[in-house]
Amino acid sequence: MAVLFRMPVVLGLFVGVMVLGLASSAKFDELFQPGWAPDHFIFEGEQLNLKLDNSSGAGFASKSKYLFGKVSMQIKLVEGDSAGTVTAYYMSSDGPNHNEFDFEFLGNTSGEPYLVQTNVYVNGVGNREQRMNLWFDPTKDFHTYSIRWTQRQVVFLVDETPVRVHTNMEHKGIPFPKDQAMGVYSSIWNADDWATQGGLVKTDWSHAPFIASYKGFEIDACEAAVSVSADDNAKKCSSSGEKRFWWDEPTFSELSLHQNHQLLWVRANHLVYDYCSDTARFPVMPVECEHHRH
Ligand SMILES: *[C@@H]1O[C@H](CO)[C@@H](O)[C@H](O)[C@H]1NC(C)=O
Ligand SMILES: *[C@@H]1O[C@H](CO)[C@@H](O)[C@H](O)[C@H]1NC(C)=O
Repeated sequence: MAVLFRMPVVLGLFVGVMVLGLASSAKFDELFQPGWAPDHFIFEGEQLNLKLDNSSGAGFASKSKYLFGKVSMQIKLVEGDSAGTVTAYYMSSDGPNHNEFDFEFLGNTSGEPYLVQTNVYVNGVGNREQRMNLWFDPTKDFHTYSIRWTQRQVVFLVDETPVRVHTNMEHKGIPFPKDQAMGVYSSIWNADDWATQGGLVKTDWSHAPFIASYKGFEIDACEAAVSVSADDNAKKCSSSGEKRFWWDEPTFSELSLHQNHQLLWVRANHLVYDYCSDTARFPVMPVECEHHRH
C-alpha cells in the first residue's frame, strides 16, 4: 500500500523532468495536418468533420513522428447508414518493414452495430486482426480512443478501458515494434468490397456525405527528430539516469489488476473475432498468441 500511495508523487516528479519531447494539445492544427482531400475537411470550432462522398474520402496525419507514449482522440462515427465505410485511426511508421497499430471502425446499415477491427503490423506483416463490437453506440456521442505504446506493450483503449494488448515477447524471439518512430493518422474511405458483412452490403451513395467527427486530440509521446538516426531517437526516447519517461515506469509495463479485469470483460462480452482462435486460417497458432491464454 505504501508504494501505491507514493506513486502520484513519484509520477509528478517524472512529469517535471520529461518536458523535452512532450507534446500535448487539444488543437488539431498544432499536431496534425490534412493528408489528402483537404476540401473534405470541415472545421467547426474545436471539432473536425471528415467527409466521405462519391468523389473522395479524406485523411489527416500528425506533423511529427513519435516513439512511445500515448495518443488519444475523441471520435464520433458516421451516423445512420454507414455501411461500406471505414474510419481508420492508427499509428504507423514508414517503409516496407513498417510497424502499425490500427483501429478500423467498420460501418453498418442503420441500426446495426459498428464493428471495431484492431490490427498490429510488425516489420511489415499484419494478419493480427481482432474484431469486437462496443458497449455503446459510437455514432451518438464522442468517445475517446487511445493507443498506449511502451517498450513492454501496445495497449488499445476505448474510454480508458483496455480492449487489446500486444505484449513484448522478444525474450521468446518474437520481434516487437520499438525501433521505428510512428506517425498518427486517421481517415475515412469507401471499403464496400470488404467492410460490411464481408462486402455483401455496399455503400449507398444516396446517403452521402458520410461524416466522422473528431475533437480532443492529445499526444503525450516522445517526438522523434527527423534528422536523427533511429538509434539516436531510440536513445532519446528511453529513460536513462536522471531522464525518466512515464512510459518506462513499471506501472505502465503491464495492465493493472483492474484493467486486466476490464480486458477480460471486453473479450468475454464484445470480442467477435480473434486471429489467435482462427484455426482455419492459422493451423499453427501464431507464437505470440500463447500468451493470450489465461
Ligand atoms: C455524386 O453525388 C452528387 C451529389 O449527390 C451527384 O450529383 C453526382 O451525380 C454523383 N456523381 C457520381 C459519379 O455518381
Ligand atoms: C453489421 O450488422 C450485422 C447484423 O447485425 C452484423 O452481423 C455485422 O457484424 C455488423 N458489422 C459489420 C461491419 O458487418
